[in-house]
Amino acid sequence: MALLDDIDEILIPEEVLQTRIRELGRTISTDYNGKEPLLVAILTGAVLFVSDLIRQVSIACQLDFMATSSYGVKTESSGIVRILKDLDQSIEGRHVIIVDDIIDTGLTMDYLLETLKARYPASLKVCALLDKVPRRLRHVPIDYRGFEIPDKFVVGYGLDYGGRYRNLPFICVLKPEIYGQEPGADDAPAVRHFTHGRPARVVR
Ligand code: IMP
Ligand code: MG
Repeated sequence: MALLDDIDEILIPEEVLQTRIRELGRTISTDYNGKEPLLVAILTGAVLFVSDLIRQVSIACQLDFMATSSYGVKTESSGIVRILKDLDQSIEGRHVIIVDDIIDTGLTMDYLLETLKARYPASLKVCALLDKVPRRLRHVPIDYRGFEIPDKFVVGYGLDYGGRYRNLPFICVLKPEIYGQEPGADDAPAVRHFTHGRPARVVR
């Protein structure tokens, strides 16, 4: 099945993404010169972003991963976040940059900031590729931001719908009828409701 058939609109083309990521990498390299930051990428969505980002960082840095899941009703996350995979190392005294694909309500990042702050890092900053400002429920300081995007459910470049579309090299919006389908079941009836222009059930 060709993924391209499911796309309604490309929001951020590949070259635009890569140009911005190069800029972010350069800025981080300047800001952290002499500090050897630890980049903490949030699985799974941030994998493509962080792998391109670290290749644009020209100073010594380290990489670790965390995985979280959020309990929520339909698309509204509750703010209760569970750590599914924790860091492999202590961050005490380290300069930490949390790298994520998108800040939506901000509940996940708010929880992560509180959790990691309690581990006494030397500094703690946030780098997010996408910022969906209109959906924010918690203020999150985003120190390195790729792009502001409107309130649309986006996929590609690590972001998924039902586990699919992560491998697209750009950020896009799917055709409305795709959001109504069970991913993988092309003939499934459209039974989902839409809230905030996004599908009612989101697999994170
Ligand atoms: P938050 O706690 O609402 O900020 O949720 C952030 C997480 O929700 C992101 O790391 C994504 O995994 C997921 N998410 C939010 N919006 C989108 C979207 O438009 N497409 C795909 N995943 C999204
Ligand atoms: Mg995520």
